[in-house]
Amino acid sequence: MIHRLYDRERDQKDCHRIWREVGWIDKDQGKIMDTFLAGCRVLVGDLNGRLESLAVSSPGSLRYLEQDLPFCAVCGVTTGYAGRKQGLAGRLTAELIALDAAEGALVAGLGMFEQGYYDRLGFGTGSYESWIGLDPSSLKIDIHPPAPIRLTKDDYVLVHRSRLRRLQAHGNTTLFREELTRAEMEWSKKGFGLGYMDPDGENLTHHFWCGHAEGENGPYSVSWMSYTDYFQFLELLALIRNLGDQVSLVRLNEPPAIQIQDLIRTPFRHMRKTRKSKFETSHQALAYWQIRICDLEKCMAKTFLPWGIVSFNLELKDPIEEYLEKDAPWRGIAGSYTVTLGPESRAEKGHRSGLPVLEASVGAFTRMWFGVRPASGLAVTDDLAGPEDLLKQLDEVLRLPTPSNDWEY
Ligand SMILES: CC(C)(COP(=O)(O)OP(=O)(O)OC[C@H]1O[C@@H](n2cnc3c(N)ncnc32)[C@H](O)[C@@H]1OP(=O)(O)O)[C@@H](O)C(=O)NCCC(=O)NCCS
Repeated sequence: MIHRLYDRERDQKDCHRIWREVGWIDKDQGKIMDTFLAGCRVLVGDLNGRLESLAVSSPGSLRYLEQDLPFCAVCGVTTGYAGRKQGLAGRLTAELIALDAAEGALVAGLGMFEQGYYDRLGFGTGSYESWIGLDPSSLKIDIHPPAPIRLTKDDYVLVHRSRLRRLQAHGNTTLFREELTRAEMEWSKKGFGLGYMDPDGENLTHHFWCGHAEGENGPYSVSWMSYTDYFQFLELLALIRNLGDQVSLVRLNEPPAIQIQDLIRTPFRHMRKTRKSKFETSHQALAYWQIRICDLEKCMAKTFLPWGIVSFNLELKDPIEEYLEKDAPWRGIAGSYTVTLGPESRAEKGHRSGLPVLEASVGAFTRMWFGVRPASGLAVTDDLAGPEDLLKQLDEVLRLPTPSNDWEY
């Protein structure tokens, strides 16, 4: 193995240096980085006796329809200026995933800096996320919420617990360690939150955290919203609307199942009037997260698809193996399998005679299984191929809602 585990006493300064070099922290934000790393598995890599790379992950769960799958989030991969293009980050990330997969993570995910880099480790691109920029005073919601409580960075425990309990949809990620929520809140520029406590005063029932609030009139950016039902969601939006006397633009990630445009008065007029201004109302779509299956048999065993049944031989390629040392505790999932998808799905090693063959990279197969795009589309744009009849059957069986991530990392 090329990695060693982060040793705070020995490595802290070098790790701060690297994150300063890549622009992730300012001079005075070392403490926030320390908080973040305390919630992560941290691997570091040396070059010529000097620490030049670190890769970090944190445990969580991934919602697949009604199932919560053990998940590892790769939430930071960095190499210092003097260590670039020596293969450090790629190998360190591969080893990180191997350790997490060997301990039970069924799926790994990450936010990419660019498309292509993590494909080499078997990742496939997720679906588009929508970022909406709206004038809060244009929200038409017939709700007058009671006065909320104000949340500050000191409320990270309450806030994190509220995030863990939130209403979830297909594709949502949840990260378990509260240090991550705490660090995100501390990184905020003039961050604040608003929300409501339950009648016992024990838990936050619903809240939003605004991680960036610029000047008097905005733009503001909502980092996340947590709620357990849709009335609470509307109540939070009404709180955002109530900022509209002062704030001209709020950006937020469109939640699953909701089309925010339904709630905006004259959206096209606003778009025309604010074009190219600081307060431009907008809708941007970007596919920035990637995932990969780490254990095919266990993922298939947790896949329940009521819409039909299809069996096939799978020839799966997994490029991560090339980045792993011989003694890695997990070696990727390349191989020959027989897969059945349906109400009771499964994958077994080996092929069965008479079944059609699907050939795929693990990234493309993960995208199909997760519902990012149907098999027929992936056969056109990604590394996935099979007989037309099989692709059609796969399209019919894998009718999934569009996955959305809902937790940035
Ligand atoms: C991204 C980063 C971690 C890479 O670190 P590194 O140690 O230089 O990476 P590696 O040596 O493992 O890989 C570099 C290789 O990836 C290739 N690569 C880079 N971007 C790529 C892409 N989008 N698609 C395919 N290959 C890509 C490079 O061309 C290089 O290949 P080469 O060695 O054949 O020339 C480093 O540039 C960095 O810290 N960037 C700033 C922070 C950041 O954005 N981190 C990623 C967060 S998701």
